[in-house]
Amino acid sequence: MSNTAVEDLDGLFEQAGHQIEEARDEQELEEVRIRFLGRKGELTAFLRNLANLSPEERPFLGKRANEIKEEIQEAFQRQFEKFKRTNLSRQLENEKLDFSLPGRAIPSGALHPVTLVLREAKEIFRGMGFQVIQGPEIETDYYNFEALNIPPEHPSREMWDSFYLEEKILLRTHTSPVQIRVLEKIPPPLRVISAGKCYRRDSVDATHSFQFYQMEGFLVDEGIGFSHLKGVLSEFVRAVFGGDRKVNFVPSYFPFTEPSVEVLMDCFKCAETGGEKQESCRICGGGKWVEILGAGMIHPFVLRRVSCSSRYTGFAFGLGIERIAMLKYGIDDIRLFYESQLRFLRQF
Ligand code: PHE
Repeated sequence: MSNTAVEDLDGLFEQAGHQIEEARDEQELEEVRIRFLGRKGELTAFLRNLANLSPEERPFLGKRANEIKEEIQEAFQRQFEKFKRTNLSRQLENEKLDFSLPGRAIPSGALHPVTLVLREAKEIFRGMGFQVIQGPEIETDYYNFEALNIPPEHPSREMWDSFYLEEKILLRTHTSPVQIRVLEKIPPPLRVISAGKCYRRDSVDATHSFQFYQMEGFLVDEGIGFSHLKGVLSEFVRAVFGGDRKVNFVPSYFPFTEPSVEVLMDCFKCAETGGEKQESCRICGGGKWVEILGAGMIHPFVLRRVSCSSRYTGFAFGLGIERIAMLKYGIDDIRLFYESQLRFLRQF
């Protein structure tokens, strides 16, 4: 009996070894494992049977059977790992990345032309010592009109009459109210610019919009005269449109400045063609001079209203950002700024 038991054991060991080697995948290997080592497995049965053996045989066979069990388990482990490795490399093979495929392009944006001009203008005035102060888009009648020397019955309200939210509260029609807000709080000397949206009850066409950007600027100090206004604004026009632009000042009217002027520059397009007036010029329409902005010496009434000492005088100006952008980039319709057409915006 002892001999048969030993032969049985060796036979089991050999069979297990063969079957482990022959298993073609993890599934088959698992079946083999259950056949030998499972609860009803052949080796398990042999081990259970040890109890029936004689006390002389038991220690030797028991030891041998446990060794074989361990060896078989190790063989299974090795084979499982081999399958795992081949599976992984097969998977890597199948899911190969093609690094030569072109990448997905990320569309890049660009700054809006209004933003470009705003930034440029701010930079130029900062260079001349101006500080930037923000004002509200919703204004009271007082700041938008009254404090700027435009009393209720004044005819010039007509050209700025606008969108009222309530009686005496409206969307600002210009950035000039910032002059009052600042002068009320900060004593001169002052050099301030302020830019933002303004609203007017205008019918929309190629050169008008109910909403637009304006930049206000003003300088108040002792001994400020019209020559300072001319110097600062000529400098600005030349910084934006080129060093050899000619700048012209013609009389105009604003209730809050006296004297008031319109600032013109010679048409850069016509200047390119030898200064000849071109009747069909897209920029100046043959007039040769193009209007850039409105300006003037701050009216003494305005300064007095904010209790500014009479030692001080100053000038103020207001420029349309879209207008500058239109001239600078040769855009002939203001509506293009607000339509968000990529074909237009991509050009900047
Ligand atoms: N606020 C004026 C306008 O909207 C422009 C301006 C500003 C004129 C400052 C003179 C001084 O037309």
